[in-house]
Amino acid sequence: MFEPIERVPGDAILGLIEAFNNDSNPDKVDLGVGVYRDEQGITPVMRAVKAAEQQLIDDEKTKAYIGSHGDPEYGHFVLETVLGANSPVLAANRASATQSPGGTGALRLAADFIASQLPGKSIWLSDPTWPNHLGVFSAAGLNLEKYPYVDADNRLDFDGMLAALKAIPEGDVVLLHACCHNPTGFDLSHEQWQQVLDVVRDRGLLPLVDFAYQGFGDGLDEDAFGVRLLAENLDEVIITQSCSKNFGIYRERTGCFIAIARNSEDMEDVRSQLAITARENYSNPPAHGSAIVATIFNSPELTAMWREELGEMRGRINQLRQDFVAALAPHGLDQRFAHVAEQRGMFSYTGLTADHVAQLRDKHSIYMVKSGRANVAGLSKDNLDYVCNAIADVVK
Ligand code: LMR
Repeated sequence: MFEPIERVPGDAILGLIEAFNNDSNPDKVDLGVGVYRDEQGITPVMRAVKAAEQQLIDDEKTKAYIGSHGDPEYGHFVLETVLGANSPVLAANRASATQSPGGTGALRLAADFIASQLPGKSIWLSDPTWPNHLGVFSAAGLNLEKYPYVDADNRLDFDGMLAALKAIPEGDVVLLHACCHNPTGFDLSHEQWQQVLDVVRDRGLLPLVDFAYQGFGDGLDEDAFGVRLLAENLDEVIITQSCSKNFGIYRERTGCFIAIARNSEDMEDVRSQLAITARENYSNPPAHGSAIVATIFNSPELTAMWREELGEMRGRINQLRQDFVAALAPHGLDQRFAHVAEQRGMFSYTGLTADHVAQLRDKHSIYMVKSGRANVAGLSKDNLDYVCNAIADVVK
């Protein structure tokens, strides 16, 4: 029976991890998969996370199931962090949190929820978007459509985006990146979010906001501007959240599906469906990551420590963006790559072509996604000149 099964290529992003590990060049640089790296190239366990884990070893009483919605304390803290502690949406009891195995798990819950409860609705994705969005939503059987996001000159194409949103059939789902757009790093201004809100409201669209990088752009509250604008001005919103990046707990698979409904009655209806969706997929989410997050939020000291370290990570990335453009100036390339300093989050759509990316890899052992997406956090003071020399070599 297995004989006709074809071998398929592995995931393009995750495959880079293996290719990088197998490269023996001591100067190799990993700008591929989206994990934060410090100046030494290490993805550290955050100090607050370590302290919380130490506490958990002593305090954890059981490993029994935590239920399909996960840890209620975790859900409460996530809702407050995403929507703001004083959110009118929370005061009206309109928001429900279902803990998920990572942000990807939350996306799959959203996809299954749309497929089963909103049949016939297409989902509209930015072009480009995180490649796995295509995988997750099509695996759930949804019809995928796209709206433009960058133009041919590698700039945010907001006019194109808005025009396309205006033409989406009423009631369809539109996926928006809350901040730190993956893969491009181009984010919307406050005015542009306002215009998106107007179109979404006029067309009666359901926004699904992917919020995987809160705190990596301009700050925890600053990065939530668009999410909160939509949540406070629309009846219904879905948010998929992740703690992978901002707590650095990638492998603990810690995320959340958030549904905002017109009123608490509708919210409970939706919530009841989500418990079934979770149950049918994986029954209960893993508990260690959510316990870490809840332990941190329960301690003012650990919360302060976490916020400080997150601020350091954000500051390092934003500084690297400036340093990168400056280091390209001697090559006469600072104008060509000036957008890198304006983009936000872990990623930059550099504008390098697939051919450039292949040359960077083959000649210089520098790894990035074929689309030209680079993980800025993979740069460091030590490798910056090496990377910039290599870029100058391949683009000339
Ligand atoms: C990325 O885009 O590199 C990250 O979100 C990791 C992943 O799972 O693709």
